[in-house]
Amino acid sequence: MKHSSSMILGFSLGFAGLSLGKTSNQAPFVNLMTPTLPTYASQTEEQAARGSLVGRFPGFKELLQPSIDPGLASYQPVTQPLQGNYTLASSDVLAVLSQQWIDAFMLMYPNVTMQIPAPHAGSLGALELTKGTLDGVFVSRELKPSDIDGFSAKFGYPPTSIPICGGSYRQFGFLDAMAFVVNKENPVEHLTFDQLDSIFSTTRARGGPSITTWGQLGVGGELGKSPINIYGIKPWNGFEEFIRQRVLSYNGRSGIAVNNTAKDPHVTWDATVFNMSRYVANDPAGIAYTGLAYIDRPVKVLGTTNPTTGNLVTPTYENIAMASWPLARIIYFNLNSPPHKGMDPVLRELVKFVLSKEGQQILLDQGVFLPFREFQQKSSLNLL
Ligand SMILES: *[C@@H]1O[C@H](CO)[C@@H](O)[C@H](O)[C@H]1NC(C)=O
Ligand SMILES: *[C@@H]1O[C@H](CO)[C@@H](O)[C@H](O)[C@H]1NC(C)=O
Ligand SMILES: *[C@@H]1O[C@H](CO)[C@@H](O)[C@H](O)[C@H]1NC(C)=O
Ligand SMILES: *[C@@H]1O[C@H](CO)[C@@H](O)[C@H](O)[C@H]1NC(C)=O
Repeated sequence: MKHSSSMILGFSLGFAGLSLGKTSNQAPFVNLMTPTLPTYASQTEEQAARGSLVGRFPGFKELLQPSIDPGLASYQPVTQPLQGNYTLASSDVLAVLSQQWIDAFMLMYPNVTMQIPAPHAGSLGALELTKGTLDGVFVSRELKPSDIDGFSAKFGYPPTSIPICGGSYRQFGFLDAMAFVVNKENPVEHLTFDQLDSIFSTTRARGGPSITTWGQLGVGGELGKSPINIYGIKPWNGFEEFIRQRVLSYNGRSGIAVNNTAKDPHVTWDATVFNMSRYVANDPAGIAYTGLAYIDRPVKVLGTTNPTTGNLVTPTYENIAMASWPLARIIYFNLNSPPHKGMDPVLRELVKFVLSKEGQQILLDQGVFLPFREFQQKSSLNLL
């Protein structure tokens, strides 16, 4: 499959009349017509308080929606009687969805009671799981290393985190996919995880050399002589954690990103991704990572090589929905599953249901998060 190696969000309004696939680089994707997104602001305290109480709702939904992978297995209810009373928690962005999942589950198993009381916050839920006051928590991101350490210190084994569905494509606040971005004049079209590690890491777990100039990436002219200006996020932050885990950590070695603790003039460190696309739109030598929901300036979104398939891919909606973009986010169900006892049978069935064709249809009906593909369902079922 031939993929275009980059796309420029925000420069495509002029192409809006063209049919798909007619752009000069033959990228067969609607995303080339997408203008930049509006500049979002952080939630106000009132919005956050409301989200914690009743859940958070997206401002808009993607017009186009993916379809369910026909290969997804259906849920087969078990015949053994299941019973019990379970208290769960969820992130604010998952409150509505996780309630729908447990409602459908309880219809199949009338002797099972489940509740997801407010406050809805993944970080609180992770702490409650450690306290032992909760049976499970739906979290819209990877657990924090501090959550895992706290849990392991108490129980002697880590929490079990099962991937249950995809994040969104570019929904603000709803686990949008990530990408690396450069200035639109930059000739670089794609970078591998090895190259990104060489640029962004101090530990370089992938074993490459340090890369500090654009010339080292094959760029000629003035830019080639220029140092790379790095824009990154200060720990801890969900975006930062994800890039650290996916790109800068390798083979069990946890990566540490370059940072400006040494006041390096080529490193800018922000608390959030809000400013990232503005920085590289204004800096010809800049590179940053950000969530697709935060691309509010015309920047070049770099492609990368999927480390599993070896294919060059770009972060188009289609590639993200097909789970071929390696920087798309994942939602997890986390629970306490003692290795000597095994997983609670009711919670195992709940996770199997969520992962099933029927469970993924519930999230597709909501129109925000992306259903798993067959290979993702299989790999999660293997964890049960
Ligand atoms: C529910 O529990 C009752 C009482 O223990 C039992 O008689 C019934 O068969 C159970 N129903 C299911 C569907 O497991
Ligand atoms: C389940 O547990 C919750 C929290 O402890 C409690 O409020 C509720 O009454 C229980 N429900 C049933 C059916 O036992
Ligand atoms: C900053 O980078 C240095 C290495 O240059 C590393 O030792 C340190 O842990 C990093 N700090 C953070 C907070 O990542
Ligand atoms: C984004 O940039 C503005 C203006 O430079 C600055 O005031 C703000 O603190 C930045 N935001 C973050 C999260 O760093």
